[in-house]
Amino acid sequence: MLEASQVGLPRHVGIIMDGNGRWAKARGLPRTDGHKRGAEVFELICDRCADLGIPCVTFYAFSTENWNRPPTEVAAIMDLLRHWLKKAQEREVENARKGIRLRFIGELEGLPEDIQSLAQDAQEHTRTHSRTICNLAVNYGGRLEILQAARHLAAQCQTGERDALTLTEDDISAALYTPEYPDVDLLIRPSGEQRLSNFLLWQSAYAEFWYSNTLWPDFTAAEFDRALADFARRGRRFGGI
Ligand code: IPE
Ligand code: IPE
Ligand code: MG
Repeated sequence: MLEASQVGLPRHVGIIMDGNGRWAKARGLPRTDGHKRGAEVFELICDRCADLGIPCVTFYAFSTENWNRPPTEVAAIMDLLRHWLKKAQEREVENARKGIRLRFIGELEGLPEDIQSLAQDAQEHTRTHSRTICNLAVNYGGRLEILQAARHLAAQCQTGERDALTLTEDDISAALYTPEYPDVDLLIRPSGEQRLSNFLLWQSAYAEFWYSNTLWPDFTAAEFDRALADFARRGRRFGGI
């Protein structure tokens, strides 16, 4: 059993929650059922992060490319998110006890207005919880994030607030959606796919990748612990020797 104090715990875990559709298909169920089950697993792993005291975890819930899916599937995913946010509101006491702070990254403005305001409320209500930041990437794209940061910095250079020639990597990090988070240490992708799919491109520059064939709805806390144990054994060099 892993303990919160265990050395080698990642400071930031990124998780690409993939395989919901295939999980449902294999059972002859509608894809939405896979997303529902996936949402339950998301809660389970978020709780596990808080149990262990992992400071930051980012779950990829909906990408900027996921708008390419059939409108009915997109609507079902938005409904699930809406439902989950309302439930999170009811579970404020539990969230406080667990120390889970909810944050959102992505272009929230592109989401239905009621979801935007529920997301703002969730962020506000959990603002003071300090054990684990549970970050949900919704309408998130890594390239779009970098593009927005570039626009922001370029505008500041234009007004003379900044000098383009002295811009640093830290300036870019600070202009992303995740200015106060450490870079991703461990990136987990289940479901057999081995790609980033536009997730946390800048922040994962030196992330350790961990893949498995488990479809996300079948993912367990025990498998998460295995990924952490594997991470703790890796030798990271960051270009050194
Ligand atoms: C991940 O599961 C959930 C989202 C991308 C919203 P998928 O829906 O991509 O499941 P598969 O990959 O089709 O099995
Ligand atoms: C990545 O999964 C996005 C999320 C998990 C939210 P996808 O299923 O959309 O990725 P691709 O299309 O297989 O690369
Ligand atoms: Mg997928």
